[in-house]
Amino acid sequence: MTTPQNAILDGQDSRFFYFLEYQLLGSTSEQQIIKTLKSIGHAQGVYQLVAFGPDLAQRLLPETEALAFAPMKTLAGPDYQMPDTQSDLFFWLHGANNSDLYDQVLTIQNSMSGLAKLTQDQAGFTYHDNKDLIGFEDGTANPKEDARIPVALIQDDAANKDGAIVFAQKWRHKLEQFLSLPVAAQEKIVGRTKVENIELEGNDMPDDSHVSRTDVKLDGEAMKIYRRSAPYGNATEKGLMFLCFACSQKRIQIQLERMVGCTGDGLSDHLMKYSDAVSGSYFYAPSQTQLDKLLG
Ligand code: HEM
Repeated sequence: MTTPQNAILDGQDSRFFYFLEYQLLGSTSEQQIIKTLKSIGHAQGVYQLVAFGPDLAQRLLPETEALAFAPMKTLAGPDYQMPDTQSDLFFWLHGANNSDLYDQVLTIQNSMSGLAKLTQDQAGFTYHDNKDLIGFEDGTANPKEDARIPVALIQDDAANKDGAIVFAQKWRHKLEQFLSLPVAAQEKIVGRTKVENIELEGNDMPDDSHVSRTDVKLDGEAMKIYRRSAPYGNATEKGLMFLCFACSQKRIQIQLERMVGCTGDGLSDHLMKYSDAVSGSYFYAPSQTQLDKLLG
């Protein structure tokens, strides 16, 4: 019997989020990482996900080789691109109490600082009723309840069961430009109505809308993923910490390629005209069972 890390599916009432990524220093050993992760532990009232980049996953959990899971590579289409900022370790924290969350962020940073360089350090938050800063609700088409399990978690590989492929990507919005468009034009870009949150249909749905580029089937199989993104921002910088979980890397990768416009169909995601991808890393989140075994 295995269980996933509970941060993936639970804590739906969390309103505060934190994203930390680390690049290991060259000399850091597996033993040091394991000892450090043990010492970090878990904080009361905070959901905490720990995930490893492909190289570190292989070093710590050789059974992940079967997942054929690769680091992020820069993607480039005619108009848009997504950078590769692949890092080694990812911590995603969320909860209802920002003080508890922040205490744990400091614990992690204090423990990691001698072993690794901090490459992503970003808080996120729930904006109104789960809206992105562009004013559209995010997460509507996510699978619900138990339907999330076969989408978000590996089920067909006994050694990695209930683990997940994770993709984390920071986006910076050109918010004023987007919001200065008429609402009908914004809706054509997203592929849903803004207030009623209804998917556009038939001729109303452009081929280059965000929904058209991400709602995709490959060899008859729907490439569904489970998203848990969070907006971030200050007075001048506004964006989205995109985060998703999937049972296979190809489900995520095909969506990224279709967004950027490198799938050979001459189309890209119109949303990318108004938001820049500024980071991108793949990770493997072991099941809680696998993680407990690793940490002894
Ligand atoms: C600036 C970045 C992004 C913004 C603002 C954004 C926003 C949205 C919004 C508002 C929706 C419609 C509501 C919903 O179903 O959640 C949506 C749908 C979706 N997005 Fe994104 N998104 C972003 C990036 C991405 C990325 C990088 C991916 C893929 C790796 C992605 C995958 C999806 C999927 C799969 C859907 C549902 C499509 C369907 O209807 O089946 N999004 N997104």
